[in-house]
Amino acid sequence: MDKKELYDRALTAAEHSYAPYSGFHVGAAVLTEDGSVYTGCNIENASYPAGICAERTAMAKALSEGHRKFKKIVVAARNEEGEQPAAPCGICRQFIFEFGDDIEITFGPDRDHLQSMTIADLLPEGFRL
Ligand code: THU
Repeated sequence: MDKKELYDRALTAAEHSYAPYSGFHVGAAVLTEDGSVYTGCNIENASYPAGICAERTAMAKALSEGHRKFKKIVVAARNEEGEQPAAPCGICRQFIFEFGDDIEITFGPDRDHLQSMTIADLLPEGFRL
């Protein structure tokens, strides 16, 4: 599945976003090594730090089904003004980095202006035990 298709899947996943506090609706689509796609959205909470980002929701869905090898993650976001760029936050970068250096991360303001880089480029000197 190519990046634009994954972006479409991510944007659709953002429809399920629970974001009453920020109004920023995020979706993510994860492509595993065997070609499976898992999607997720951000889920906020009245206790703000208890919320979770779309990327970690999607990764957790794949991980909890046994996947450990990931090829790509595409992020899409929108607010009341329309689609928005959303690069993964620092916590998500570290979360993703756990599973490999060369996972390709894609985001952009819309499906025709996507940019991609590896997680190692997004998180230089990421932490490993
Ligand atoms: N958020 C994500 O889900 N992923 C990102 O890449 C950036 C931020 C969420 C967290 C919060 O629910 C909302 O966007 C605003 O920060």
